[in-house]
Amino acid sequence: MTAESTAPPSPYGTPSRETAPRKPQTLHRLRALREAGEKIAMLTAYDAASARLLDDAGVDCLLVGDSLGMVMQGHASTLPVTLEQMVYHTQCVARGNRTAWLIADLPFGSYQGSTEQAIASSVALMQAGAQMIKLEGGGWTAPLVRALVERGIPVCAHLGLTPQSVHALGGYRIQGRDAQAADTLRQHAAELGAAGAAMLVLELVPSDLAADISAAFPGITIGIGAGSRTHGQVLVLHDMLDITRGPKPRFVRNFMEGAPSMLDAVHSYVLAVKDGSFPDDALHGYTA
Ligand code: KIV
Repeated sequence: MTAESTAPPSPYGTPSRETAPRKPQTLHRLRALREAGEKIAMLTAYDAASARLLDDAGVDCLLVGDSLGMVMQGHASTLPVTLEQMVYHTQCVARGNRTAWLIADLPFGSYQGSTEQAIASSVALMQAGAQMIKLEGGGWTAPLVRALVERGIPVCAHLGLTPQSVHALGGYRIQGRDAQAADTLRQHAAELGAAGAAMLVLELVPSDLAADISAAFPGITIGIGAGSRTHGQVLVLHDMLDITRGPKPRFVRNFMEGAPSMLDAVHSYVLAVKDGSFPDDALHGYTA
C-alpha cells in the first residue's frame, strides 16, 4: 500500500500550489533524479505543520537539522542540541510528512564518542522516523559511516563549514579556499563516498570545488552556499521565508518576496532549484 493511499486529508486545507500526488521518495528515486540530471530540492523542517507544507509544495527531502538549536531554541550555535531533542523533532516531522525523504542530524556529542555510540544514536533517530542520518566531518568519520551503512542505516555526510566545529573553524567562514584545504576536502569526500555515504552536504565551499567534488562523488551532493553545480540544494526554511532576523548569508534568497503564501514561496524554491535559477552563482555563489 502506498503512502498516498493511506494519507489522511490535510488538517490545513487544500494548498493552492499543492503538487500532483507523488510516490514516496526513496534513495533509489533520488539516485535516478541525479542520473537524469534533475536537481534535488531539500529544506529544513522541525515540526509537523511545516513538514506537511514542504511535502505538499514538492520538496524532495526534509532535513531535521540541528540548526533547530539556533532557529527554534535561540542558541548561538548548534552545540547545545541533544539527541532527545532531535528524536522529538524527528517524530514531529515524520508525523507531518507523507512522501519526502526524511533525514535527521546526529547532534554534537551523539557520535563522537565511539562507533557503538554513533550506532545507538542513529538507531534512535531511525526509530523516530528518519530514513537517513546526517553527520558532520571527514577523515575520522569514514569508518563510522561504513559501520552505519553496513547495519542498514543510510548516511548523509556533511563537509565544508560544519557548524558543530564552529569554534575549531574560527567562525562561520568559507572552507576549502586554498589548494591544500581544497585537496583535504576532496580526499574526505572520496573516503566518505567509498565508505558508502549515499549523500553529501557541502556547506560554504567555493563553487568550483563543489562542482569537482560532485563530479567525483558516487552519491548525491547537496549544496548550501556551494554554488549551482551540486546535485541539489538545501536552505534553512526560516532563512528562505525571511523569518530569520538580522543579516543573512549571501547564499540565501528570500523566496517570500512577492509570494502570496508560504506554500507558494516554498513551491517557487522547488521550481527555482529544479530549473537551475537558484542559486545564481553571481549572486549566491563563492569563488576560491
Ligand atoms: O542543521 C542544518 O540545518 C544543516 C543544514 C544547514 C545543511 O545542517
